[in-house]
Amino acid sequence: MGKVSKPEPFKIKMVEPIKLISRQEREEALKRAGYNVFALRADEVYIDLLTDSGTGAMSDNQWAGIMLGDESYAGSKNYYNLIDTCKEIFNYEYFIPTHQGRGAEKVLFPLLISKPGQYVLSNMHFDTTKAHVELANARAVDLVIQEAFDTSSFHPFKGNIDIEKMEKFIREKGSENIAFIVITVTCNSAGGQPVSMQNIRETSQLAKKYGIHVFLDAARYAENAYFIKYREKGYADKSIKDIVQEMFSYADGFTMSAKKDAIVNMGGLIGIKDDEELYNQARANLVPLEGFPTYGGLSGRDIEAMARGLKEGIELDYLEYRIGQVEYLGNKLRAADIPIQYPVGGHAVFVDARKMLPHIPYYQFPAQALANALYLESGVRAVEIGSLMLGRDPDTGEQLESPLELLRLTIPRRVYTNNHMDYVAESLIEVNKIAHTLKGLEFVYEPKILRHFTARLKPIE
Ligand code: F0G
Repeated sequence: MGKVSKPEPFKIKMVEPIKLISRQEREEALKRAGYNVFALRADEVYIDLLTDSGTGAMSDNQWAGIMLGDESYAGSKNYYNLIDTCKEIFNYEYFIPTHQGRGAEKVLFPLLISKPGQYVLSNMHFDTTKAHVELANARAVDLVIQEAFDTSSFHPFKGNIDIEKMEKFIREKGSENIAFIVITVTCNSAGGQPVSMQNIRETSQLAKKYGIHVFLDAARYAENAYFIKYREKGYADKSIKDIVQEMFSYADGFTMSAKKDAIVNMGGLIGIKDDEELYNQARANLVPLEGFPTYGGLSGRDIEAMARGLKEGIELDYLEYRIGQVEYLGNKLRAADIPIQYPVGGHAVFVDARKMLPHIPYYQFPAQALANALYLESGVRAVEIGSLMLGRDPDTGEQLESPLELLRLTIPRRVYTNNHMDYVAESLIEVNKIAHTLKGLEFVYEPKILRHFTARLKPIE
């Protein structure tokens, strides 16, 4: 059996039919959507790679848990099951459920920022994370290593923090002006790239030296642990749970979107290692924002599915299948000379649209042009992570140039088979043949805030 690769570690007992509408219907749909795939109806999409968030398939065990939902307002048995599960996995003292990741950020961040104008340092902030830092009157600074921006060269941990740069920043601004450090695992914006244990440890040591707290943005913590197991010396024989516990031991707490590695359609978490006062403040903050501390915006049944999903998300054969599928798609694209962020990350393949469409400048949004072409070709929906998402300089109104123009092919968990991945790869290979004919885009309607979700565009003739 040595060389035989393992298939999916599940069998399928319920299916949702999908249908490819005609080319003409896709053209009409995209035009109606203002050349913005966010405005498509999901039933106009054949294979949906917009996000891996809340789009996973729950297991029979999770669905069975749904039936055991205890909908008591306070103190449901599902809440206590969640707390026990979290203690076992993360080895922290305190946990609070929230309705999703940004709920956790909204509740916790204001408590960590002691005065306006403080900095929050990260490898890279996710966009809602950055928004909650800014809403709390602090400033978000990204300090990921330079290698993250070179899509073609191999680095095992492209999500790492540049420790030297971080120390320099802390010294320059003064440690009293740093609110906290947030390490995003895996680093979504850099391509689902992992952070090494060594880097987490060194960041924690640096933070201690200056008296700064460290938090994890733990949406894809299990995928990060898997990469540590296979890429970092000394971890090959450790269990995912042991690796997770070591990762979390270097932080003071975490926020988590459970819609990713905990494989639920809705849910989030706050974890606090041992700071009882912070825990009490967070619980108090939770009530007006998310709900009573034992339900945090979720029904009992959602909480039960989350407790069960947390356990499934750290199973080794699941993670092998999961990361393996993303790698499978990445390898197909690389074999066809499609430029992608390499090595492939945990939850998505990121196509380098700047390299694929060098004739389209950043201010005409090459990755968005690619997203539209892929949809027209195949009905596959992917998402732009580039200058369209980045937006304008708030002071000058100038369009900013993103360091990377990426098309994210985000793979939902346990939803599609490798036949679907073959179709995605072949479609993108077809688009690559006509890449030089694709046109850039201009705005028809440009909203001021988070414009990429609702903007309307048109191809430049
Ligand atoms: N942190 C990271 C790293 C994320 O990727 C996300 C969401 C959040 C926080 C916020 O969590 O959606 O539950 O409120 N990422 C999704 C994505 C939306 O498509 O990458 P949320």
